Amino acid sequence: MASNNSNEMSKTKEAASSELVEKCREPSNDKAKNDDKTTRKLFPTVAMYGPYNLKDLEPGKKMKWCTCGLSKKQPWCDGAHKGTGFKSLKWKVPETPQRLYSICGCKYTGSPPWCDGSHNDLPCKFIAQIESCGQIHSDNVKLCTGCGWVPDW
Ligand code: FES
Ligand SMILES: [Zn+2]
Repeated sequence: MASNNSNEMSKTKEAASSELVEKCREPSNDKAKNDDKTTRKLFPTVAMYGPYNLKDLEPGKKMKWCTCGLSKKQPWCDGAHKGTGFKSLKWKVPETPQRLYSICGCKYTGSPPWCDGSHNDLPCKFIAQIESCGQIHSDNVKLCTGCGWVPDW
């Protein structure tokens, strides 16, 4: 019974991702492909397609924002970037308190660590950059920095 359920679930997930791949192949999405291939050297993986909306950050506190997308303590660094070429971004919480801090979870923001809405058209771009990556994707690679692929993608 339980295994049936999990089969169902993985089918649903597969169906959802193949739907997305199809959608991304529609001509209107061509523009979304690889437009930052020329400027970016290392490609992070996506921790979440959206911001982490945090409350109660301590003004003036020094934080390390995860740039690679691998940390299990998102949006902050837990050291998982080791060996990937990524480094965390040092950031000080602004002195003026805010009710909400909208911290980027997709790692593709143009104004880190803040969310700038880049996640909105990221799914198609991300699939395209993974599909066009020339590097070998195997399970012993923790992150392909040529495209952002991770083994559990
Ligand atoms: S774990 Fe992602 S930058 Fe450190
Ligand atoms: Zn790759």
